[in-house]
Amino acid sequence: MVVSRQAGPCHQPGASAAYSYGVSKVRDDSFQIRPARDDEWQACRMLLPETFADLNGREYFLCTRQQAPRIVAAASCRRTPQGAKSLRLHVIPPFRRRGIGARMIDHICGDVPAAEGLSEISKEKDAEPFCTRTGFLRVDGLTTVEAEMAEIRAYMSRLRDRMHLPESARLISLAEAPMEQVARLHAEYIARAGELNPWRAVIAGNPRLAPSVILLVDGRVEAILLGELEASLAIVRSRVVTPRFQGGWANTLLLAEALDRGWERGARRVRFSYSDSNRDTQKLARRFKAEVISVLAKFQRGQPATVEI
Ligand SMILES: CC(C)(COP(=O)(O)OP(=O)(O)OC[C@H]1O[C@@H](n2cnc3c(N)ncnc32)[C@H](O)[C@@H]1OP(=O)(O)O)[C@@H](O)C(=O)NCCC(=O)NCCS
Repeated sequence: MVVSRQAGPCHQPGASAAYSYGVSKVRDDSFQIRPARDDEWQACRMLLPETFADLNGREYFLCTRQQAPRIVAAASCRRTPQGAKSLRLHVIPPFRRRGIGARMIDHICGDVPAAEGLSEISKEKDAEPFCTRTGFLRVDGLTTVEAEMAEIRAYMSRLRDRMHLPESARLISLAEAPMEQVARLHAEYIARAGELNPWRAVIAGNPRLAPSVILLVDGRVEAILLGELEASLAIVRSRVVTPRFQGGWANTLLLAEALDRGWERGARRVRFSYSDSNRDTQKLARRFKAEVISVLAKFQRGQPATVEI
Protein backbone atom coordinates (compact mmCIF):
# COMPACT_ATOMS: atom_id res chain seq x y z
CA MET A 1 0.00 0.00 0.00
CA VAL A 2 1.30 3.46 -0.90
CA VAL A 3 0.47 6.14 1.62
CA SER A 4 0.96 9.65 0.32
CA ARG A 5 0.30 12.76 2.30
CA GLN A 6 -1.63 15.59 0.71
CA ALA A 7 0.23 18.20 -1.31
CA GLY A 8 0.57 21.49 0.47
CA PRO A 9 3.00 23.74 2.28
CA CYS A 10 4.87 21.84 4.93
CA HIS A 11 3.87 22.31 8.52
CA GLN A 12 5.66 24.58 10.94
CA PRO A 13 8.17 23.17 13.41
CA GLY A 14 6.54 21.59 16.40
CA ALA A 15 3.10 21.76 14.80
CA SER A 16 0.50 19.05 15.24
CA ALA A 17 2.93 16.23 14.39
CA ALA A 18 3.45 14.15 17.51
CA TYR A 19 7.00 13.18 16.53
CA SER A 20 8.29 16.48 15.14
CA TYR A 21 11.78 17.36 16.33
CA GLY A 22 11.21 21.03 15.57
CA VAL A 23 14.52 21.58 13.78
CA SER A 24 13.15 23.03 10.57
CA LYS A 25 13.21 26.76 10.15
CA VAL A 26 10.70 28.03 7.64
CA ARG A 27 12.76 30.71 5.99
CA ASP A 28 10.92 30.94 2.70
CA ASP A 29 7.24 30.20 2.17
CA SER A 30 7.63 29.94 -1.61
CA PHE A 31 8.80 26.31 -1.21
CA GLN A 32 6.23 23.56 -1.37
CA ILE A 33 6.71 19.94 -0.30
CA ARG A 34 4.44 17.44 -2.00
CA PRO A 35 4.37 13.88 -3.37
CA ALA A 36 6.13 13.60 -6.74
CA ARG A 37 3.83 13.27 -9.73
CA ASP A 38 4.21 10.39 -12.22
CA ASP A 39 5.75 12.69 -14.85
CA GLU A 40 8.46 13.78 -12.38
CA TRP A 41 10.18 10.40 -12.05
CA GLN A 42 13.20 11.60 -14.01
CA ALA A 43 13.91 14.31 -11.44
CA CYS A 44 13.52 11.72 -8.69
CA ARG A 45 15.97 9.41 -10.43
CA MET A 46 18.47 12.21 -11.01
CA LEU A 47 18.43 13.28 -7.35
CA LEU A 48 18.08 9.84 -5.77
CA PRO A 49 19.57 7.35 -8.28
CA GLU A 50 20.37 4.75 -5.58
CA THR A 51 16.66 4.34 -4.73
CA PHE A 52 15.90 3.18 -8.27
CA ALA A 53 17.80 -0.05 -7.67
CA ASP A 54 14.84 -1.23 -5.56
CA LEU A 55 11.67 0.74 -6.23
CA ASN A 56 9.26 -1.65 -4.58
CA GLY A 57 6.88 0.23 -2.24
CA ARG A 58 8.78 3.51 -2.42
CA GLU A 59 7.10 6.91 -2.23
CA TYR A 60 8.73 10.07 -3.54
CA PHE A 61 8.41 13.67 -2.39
CA LEU A 62 9.71 16.84 -3.96
CA CYS A 63 10.39 20.30 -2.65
CA THR A 64 9.49 22.73 -5.42
CA ARG A 65 9.18 26.45 -6.06
CA GLN A 66 7.80 28.61 -8.89
CA GLN A 67 11.05 29.88 -10.42
CA ALA A 68 13.99 27.91 -11.85
CA PRO A 69 15.37 25.66 -10.61
CA ARG A 70 11.84 24.49 -9.89
CA ILE A 71 12.83 21.28 -8.03
CA VAL A 72 15.27 21.86 -5.19
CA ALA A 73 15.09 18.60 -3.21
CA ALA A 74 13.78 15.05 -3.36
CA ALA A 75 13.11 12.48 -0.66
CA SER A 76 12.00 8.88 -0.76
CA CYS A 77 11.02 6.23 1.77
CA ARG A 78 8.78 3.25 2.36
CA ARG A 79 6.00 3.91 4.82
CA THR A 80 5.15 0.80 6.84
CA PRO A 81 3.10 0.32 10.02
CA GLN A 82 6.41 0.42 11.95
CA GLY A 83 7.39 3.77 10.46
CA ALA A 84 9.28 5.24 7.51
CA LYS A 85 12.03 2.94 6.20
CA SER A 86 14.86 3.23 3.67
CA LEU A 87 14.66 7.01 3.87
CA ARG A 88 16.84 8.97 1.42
CA LEU A 89 17.02 12.69 0.95
CA HIS A 90 18.85 15.01 -1.42
CA VAL A 91 18.83 18.81 -1.40
CA ILE A 92 20.60 20.42 -4.38
CA PRO A 93 23.79 22.19 -3.25
CA PRO A 94 22.79 25.89 -3.71
CA PHE A 95 19.76 25.31 -1.47
CA ARG A 96 21.51 23.59 1.43
CA ARG A 97 21.59 24.97 4.97
CA ARG A 98 18.30 26.78 4.44
CA GLY A 99 16.20 24.38 6.48
CA ILE A 100 14.80 22.49 3.46
CA GLY A 101 16.17 19.08 4.46
CA ALA A 102 14.75 19.40 7.98
CA ARG A 103 11.39 20.53 6.58
CA MET A 104 11.25 17.48 4.35
CA ILE A 105 12.03 15.20 7.29
CA ASP A 106 9.25 16.87 9.29
CA HIS A 107 6.87 16.52 6.39
CA ILE A 108 7.57 12.86 5.71
CA CYS A 109 8.30 11.57 9.20
CA GLY A 110 6.45 14.04 11.40
CA ASP A 111 3.52 11.70 12.04
CA VAL A 112 5.24 8.30 12.11
CA PRO A 113 6.59 6.62 15.25
CA ALA A 114 10.00 5.89 13.74
CA ALA A 115 12.14 6.50 10.71
CA GLU A 116 15.34 4.93 9.44
CA GLY A 117 17.69 5.28 6.53
CA LEU A 118 21.19 4.48 5.31
CA SER A 119 23.94 6.86 4.32
CA GLU A 120 27.43 6.22 3.02
CA ILE A 121 28.82 8.83 5.38
CA SER A 122 32.32 8.50 3.98
CA LYS A 123 30.93 10.14 0.82
CA GLU A 124 27.96 12.11 2.17
CA LYS A 125 29.79 14.42 4.54
CA ASP A 126 26.71 16.46 5.48
CA ALA A 127 24.61 13.43 6.40
CA GLU A 128 25.89 12.72 9.93
CA PRO A 129 25.57 16.27 11.35
CA PHE A 130 22.24 16.65 9.60
CA CYS A 131 20.88 13.35 10.96
CA THR A 132 22.09 14.14 14.48
CA ARG A 133 20.46 17.58 14.32
CA THR A 134 17.15 16.15 13.10
CA GLY A 135 16.94 13.60 15.92
CA PHE A 136 18.43 10.49 14.27
CA LEU A 137 20.94 8.21 16.00
CA ARG A 138 23.50 5.97 14.35
CA VAL A 139 22.30 2.49 15.32
CA ASP A 140 24.62 0.41 13.16
CA GLY A 141 27.38 0.81 10.63
CA LEU A 142 29.55 -1.16 8.26
CA THR A 143 33.12 0.01 7.74
CA THR A 144 35.01 -1.42 4.78
CA VAL A 145 38.81 -1.25 4.81
CA GLU A 146 41.76 -2.34 2.71
CA ALA A 147 45.21 -3.37 3.91
CA GLU A 148 48.44 -4.80 2.51
CA MET A 149 48.21 -8.53 2.89
CA ALA A 150 51.77 -9.66 3.69
CA GLU A 151 51.98 -8.38 7.28
CA ILE A 152 48.42 -9.20 8.24
CA ARG A 153 48.84 -12.71 6.82
CA ALA A 154 52.07 -13.29 8.77
CA TYR A 155 50.37 -12.06 11.97
CA MET A 156 47.30 -14.29 11.51
CA SER A 157 49.53 -17.30 10.72
CA ARG A 158 51.46 -16.75 13.98
CA LEU A 159 48.18 -16.64 15.92
CA ARG A 160 46.99 -19.81 14.20
CA ASP A 161 50.22 -21.65 15.01
CA ARG A 162 49.69 -20.97 18.73
CA MET A 163 46.12 -22.25 18.78
CA HIS A 164 44.97 -25.63 20.06
CA LEU A 165 42.21 -26.78 17.79
CA PRO A 166 39.70 -29.48 18.65
CA GLU A 167 40.46 -32.65 16.73
CA SER A 168 37.08 -32.58 15.06
CA ALA A 169 37.68 -29.12 13.51
CA ARG A 170 38.27 -29.21 9.77
CA LEU A 171 38.56 -26.50 7.14
CA ILE A 172 37.10 -27.17 3.73
CA SER A 173 36.43 -25.14 0.61
CA LEU A 174 33.06 -23.79 -0.43
CA ALA A 175 32.75 -26.32 -3.23
CA GLU A 176 33.06 -29.20 -0.71
CA ALA A 177 30.71 -27.68 1.87
CA PRO A 178 27.16 -28.78 2.64
CA MET A 179 25.47 -25.89 0.87
CA GLU A 180 22.22 -26.04 2.83
CA GLN A 181 24.08 -25.36 6.05
CA VAL A 182 26.19 -22.61 4.51
CA ALA A 183 23.09 -20.96 3.06
CA ARG A 184 21.29 -21.23 6.40
CA LEU A 185 24.11 -19.48 8.26
CA HIS A 186 24.37 -16.84 5.57
CA ALA A 187 20.64 -16.20 5.55
CA GLU A 188 20.41 -16.06 9.34
CA TYR A 189 23.33 -13.75 10.05
CA ILE A 190 24.08 -11.83 6.86
CA ALA A 191 21.07 -11.56 4.57
CA ARG A 192 18.94 -10.57 7.60
CA ALA A 193 20.96 -7.34 7.66
CA GLY A 194 20.61 -7.20 3.88
CA GLU A 195 20.54 -3.42 3.76
CA LEU A 196 24.11 -3.36 4.99
CA ASN A 197 25.31 -6.25 2.88
CA PRO A 198 23.45 -6.51 -0.40
CA TRP A 199 25.82 -9.28 -1.51
CA ARG A 200 23.52 -12.20 -0.79
CA ALA A 201 24.06 -14.77 -3.47
CA VAL A 202 25.92 -17.90 -2.46
CA ILE A 203 27.14 -19.75 -5.53
CA ALA A 204 29.34 -22.70 -4.72
CA GLY A 205 30.48 -23.29 -8.29
CA ASN A 206 31.68 -19.74 -8.84
CA PRO A 207 35.48 -19.91 -9.33
CA ARG A 208 35.82 -16.31 -8.12
CA LEU A 209 34.73 -17.55 -4.67
CA ALA A 210 37.62 -20.02 -4.46
CA PRO A 211 39.34 -18.31 -1.47
CA SER A 212 36.19 -18.95 0.64
CA VAL A 213 36.69 -21.13 3.73
CA ILE A 214 34.19 -23.22 5.65
CA LEU A 215 34.82 -24.51 9.17
CA LEU A 216 33.32 -27.85 10.11
CA VAL A 217 33.28 -29.02 13.72
CA ASP A 218 31.96 -32.52 14.28
CA GLY A 219 30.76 -32.42 10.70
CA ARG A 220 28.61 -29.29 11.21
CA VAL A 221 29.22 -25.96 9.54
CA GLU A 222 30.13 -23.60 12.40
CA ALA A 223 31.76 -20.72 10.51
CA ILE A 224 31.95 -19.41 6.97
CA LEU A 225 34.09 -16.86 5.23
CA LEU A 226 32.94 -16.08 1.71
CA GLY A 227 35.34 -14.11 -0.38
CA GLU A 228 36.48 -13.55 -3.93
CA LEU A 229 39.41 -12.25 -5.92
CA GLU A 230 39.50 -9.18 -8.10
CA ALA A 231 42.94 -9.22 -9.71
CA SER A 232 45.37 -8.87 -6.77
CA LEU A 233 42.68 -7.81 -4.30
CA ALA A 234 41.10 -10.45 -2.04
CA ILE A 235 37.64 -9.32 -0.90
CA VAL A 236 36.02 -10.80 2.18
CA ARG A 237 32.31 -10.49 1.45
CA SER A 238 30.63 -12.26 4.37
CA ARG A 239 31.88 -13.79 7.57
CA VAL A 240 29.83 -15.69 10.13
CA VAL A 241 30.86 -17.61 13.24
CA THR A 242 28.03 -19.31 15.13
CA PRO A 243 27.53 -18.03 18.70
CA ARG A 244 29.06 -21.26 20.14
CA PHE A 245 32.40 -20.47 18.51
CA GLN A 246 32.49 -16.70 18.75
CA GLY A 247 35.25 -14.92 20.63
CA GLY A 248 37.69 -17.81 20.23
CA TRP A 249 39.91 -19.51 17.73
CA ALA A 250 37.37 -20.02 14.92
CA ASN A 251 37.51 -16.52 13.46
CA THR A 252 41.32 -16.44 13.57
CA LEU A 253 41.55 -19.80 11.88
CA LEU A 254 39.12 -18.78 9.18
CA LEU A 255 40.90 -15.52 8.43
CA ALA A 256 44.37 -17.06 8.49
CA GLU A 257 43.28 -19.76 6.06
CA ALA A 258 41.48 -17.35 3.73
CA LEU A 259 44.53 -15.08 3.63
CA ASP A 260 46.69 -18.06 2.68
CA ARG A 261 44.28 -19.11 -0.06
CA GLY A 262 44.07 -15.58 -1.43
CA TRP A 263 47.86 -15.17 -1.32
CA GLU A 264 48.40 -18.45 -3.16
CA ARG A 265 46.09 -17.18 -5.90
CA GLY A 266 48.05 -13.94 -6.31
CA ALA A 267 46.24 -11.54 -3.96
CA ARG A 268 48.46 -8.94 -2.29
CA ARG A 269 45.84 -6.66 -0.74
CA VAL A 270 42.80 -7.59 1.28
CA ARG A 271 39.47 -5.77 1.71
CA PHE A 272 37.19 -6.63 4.61
CA SER A 273 34.33 -5.07 6.55
CA TYR A 274 33.19 -4.89 10.14
CA SER A 275 30.04 -3.71 11.84
CA ASP A 276 30.13 -1.16 14.68
CA SER A 277 29.85 -3.93 17.29
CA ASN A 278 32.74 -6.03 15.91
CA ARG A 279 35.57 -4.65 18.03
CA ASP A 280 38.04 -7.45 17.25
CA THR A 281 38.05 -6.85 13.51
CA GLN A 282 38.11 -3.11 14.10
CA LYS A 283 41.24 -3.59 16.24
CA LEU A 284 42.82 -5.74 13.54
CA ALA A 285 42.14 -3.02 10.94
CA ARG A 286 43.72 -0.36 13.18
CA ARG A 287 46.72 -2.50 13.99
CA PHE A 288 47.56 -2.85 10.30
CA LYS A 289 46.67 0.77 9.47
CA ALA A 290 44.02 -0.36 7.05
CA GLU A 291 42.70 2.34 4.77
CA VAL A 292 38.99 3.09 5.18
CA ILE A 293 37.24 2.62 1.83
CA SER A 294 33.66 3.31 2.90
CA VAL A 295 31.48 3.74 5.97
CA LEU A 296 27.83 2.89 5.57
CA ALA A 297 25.73 4.00 8.54
CA LYS A 298 22.18 3.22 9.53
CA PHE A 299 20.35 6.07 11.25
CA GLN A 300 17.15 5.73 13.23
CA ARG A 301 14.78 8.11 14.93
CA GLY A 302 12.12 6.97 17.41
CA GLN A 303 11.15 3.40 18.16
CA PRO A 304 9.53 1.27 15.45
CA ALA A 305 5.95 0.40 16.40
CA THR A 306 5.32 -3.26 17.11
CA VAL A 307 2.86 -4.75 14.70
CA GLU A 308 0.38 -7.34 15.89
CA ILE A 309 -0.06 -10.15 13.44
C1 LIG B 1 22.20 16.22 4.23
C2 LIG B 1 21.28 17.20 3.48
C3 LIG B 1 20.02 16.47 3.09
C4 LIG B 1 20.96 18.36 4.42
O1 LIG B 1 20.00 19.20 3.79
P1 LIG B 1 19.89 20.76 4.16
O2 LIG B 1 18.67 21.29 3.53
O3 LIG B 1 21.17 21.44 3.87
O4 LIG B 1 19.72 20.67 5.75
P2 LIG B 1 19.11 21.79 6.71
O5 LIG B 1 19.42 23.13 6.17
O6 LIG B 1 17.67 21.47 6.95
O7 LIG B 1 19.96 21.51 8.03
C5 LIG B 1 19.38 21.32 9.31
C6 LIG B 1 20.50 21.27 10.33
O8 LIG B 1 21.32 20.11 10.09
C7 LIG B 1 22.70 20.43 10.38
N1 LIG B 1 23.52 20.36 9.19
C8 LIG B 1 23.12 20.18 7.91
N2 LIG B 1 24.18 20.12 7.08
C9 LIG B 1 25.29 20.26 7.86
C10 LIG B 1 26.69 20.30 7.61
N3 LIG B 1 27.18 20.18 6.37
N4 LIG B 1 27.52 20.49 8.66
C11 LIG B 1 27.06 20.62 9.91
N5 LIG B 1 25.73 20.62 10.22
C12 LIG B 1 24.87 20.43 9.21
C13 LIG B 1 22.69 21.88 10.90
O9 LIG B 1 22.53 21.85 12.31
C14 LIG B 1 21.46 22.44 10.23
O10 LIG B 1 20.91 23.55 10.93
P3 LIG B 1 21.63 25.01 10.76
O11 LIG B 1 21.80 25.26 9.29
O12 LIG B 1 20.65 25.92 11.42
O13 LIG B 1 22.95 24.93 11.48
C15 LIG B 1 22.00 17.80 2.21
O14 LIG B 1 23.27 18.29 2.60
C16 LIG B 1 22.20 16.79 1.10
O15 LIG B 1 21.31 16.60 0.28
N6 LIG B 1 23.38 16.12 1.06
C17 LIG B 1 23.66 15.09 0.03
C18 LIG B 1 22.83 13.81 0.24
C19 LIG B 1 22.86 13.33 1.70
O16 LIG B 1 23.86 13.37 2.38
N7 LIG B 1 21.68 12.87 2.16
C20 LIG B 1 21.53 12.48 3.56
C21 LIG B 1 21.39 11.03 3.73
S1 LIG B 1 19.80 10.43 3.23
